[in-house]
Amino acid sequence: MSDATATLATRLNYSQCWEDTNILLAATRPKEGDRVLSIASAGDNAIAMAMAGAKVDAVDVSEAQLALVALKLLGHRLSYGDYRGLLGLEPSVDAVRVYRLIRERLPEFARRYWDDNEDMLLAGVLSQGRFERYLGTFGQRLLPAIHRKKTTMRWFELDSLDERRRHWKRWNNLRWRAMFRVFFSRRVMAARGRSPEQFQHVEGGIGNALMARTQRVLTELNPRDNGYLQWILTSSYLHPECEPAYLRPEGHAQLGDVSERIALVHTDLTSHMKAQSDGTYSAFNLSDVPEYLDLATTEELLTECARTGRSGARIAYWNLFVPRCRPASLADRIDRHPDIGLALYAQDRSFFYGAFQVEEVR
Ligand SMILES: C[S@@+](CC[C@H](N)C(=O)[O-])C[C@H]1O[C@@H](n2cnc3c(N)ncnc32)[C@H](O)[C@@H]1O
Repeated sequence: MSDATATLATRLNYSQCWEDTNILLAATRPKEGDRVLSIASAGDNAIAMAMAGAKVDAVDVSEAQLALVALKLLGHRLSYGDYRGLLGLEPSVDAVRVYRLIRERLPEFARRYWDDNEDMLLAGVLSQGRFERYLGTFGQRLLPAIHRKKTTMRWFELDSLDERRRHWKRWNNLRWRAMFRVFFSRRVMAARGRSPEQFQHVEGGIGNALMARTQRVLTELNPRDNGYLQWILTSSYLHPECEPAYLRPEGHAQLGDVSERIALVHTDLTSHMKAQSDGTYSAFNLSDVPEYLDLATTEELLTECARTGRSGARIAYWNLFVPRCRPASLADRIDRHPDIGLALYAQDRSFFYGAFQVEEVR
């Protein structure tokens, strides 16, 4: 297990997935009859793959992450209003009261976790991952010191590219640049949002890259359609259609079937794959795990994808700050699709990333 993986194993780091579901589904094309492998993380993307009909092995080194996915999967045991209340989206609903209605249905490890962490439920669990708390500090404390609420909300009213480019000129003032660079520096992000180990393979600073990615998402894509951006800037989703699928009424209605198609697996990704038979999987969502691995371990992981993937299985993963892709040594077993990766990357609403890799088992 890498240092980054070991650190991630102990706490709830993510209460939402910050990897764009739409581009993941477009790259991996999950469907009924498929068995796919997904990093579990906060569950949103594993659930989306299961909603598309696939059986999903949702793997994570972190029991806390799996406890969160188990909780999200119990939505069908609750009314829609209570479910949203459980997750902290309905302030009038007592999340702990709702939790106690369903806690008996959780697997034992998840019940233990949430019994010990009812305070996170009370505080609104979707904002309680370590990364979400970091983003919350930005959106709720720092941003109001830079821009008036009206200036922030203006992003969600501008439908034309020209208008957004003009708004960026106003937005990108001295104070924004100074605060952004400090808050999203490697030092502060490692101390408050991610962990120093997650930066183990990162070379150099990250501020300039993140600033350019932020400018791109605010101007080139429409913030009105971007739930990721809405949550960061306003701590809420502004339109129901911008919420992750499992939070929408039609997604909530599917959670009973979906929960039967998802297996929660508590282990390290490569160890899990080594235990699977040849040709098991039709697709892989590797999140940005290769980012945390050295080149040799990335090669080992992709070799396992080539072995456990069926012919045609797509492998999707993000590069945040570390370039990773299928090495030349695997060219006879895995094809790269840089054209598809680039086209989907251009639509990536969760804009932190530097690249989206789409590869395919031969
Ligand atoms: C890879 S992290 C990425 C989140 C986000 N994109 C970022 O970079 O901050 C998402 C999930 O992967 C899990 N994870 C990381 N390395 C893993 C590994 N080798 N095996 C299984 N799960 C892993 C973490 O526990 C976490 O829940």
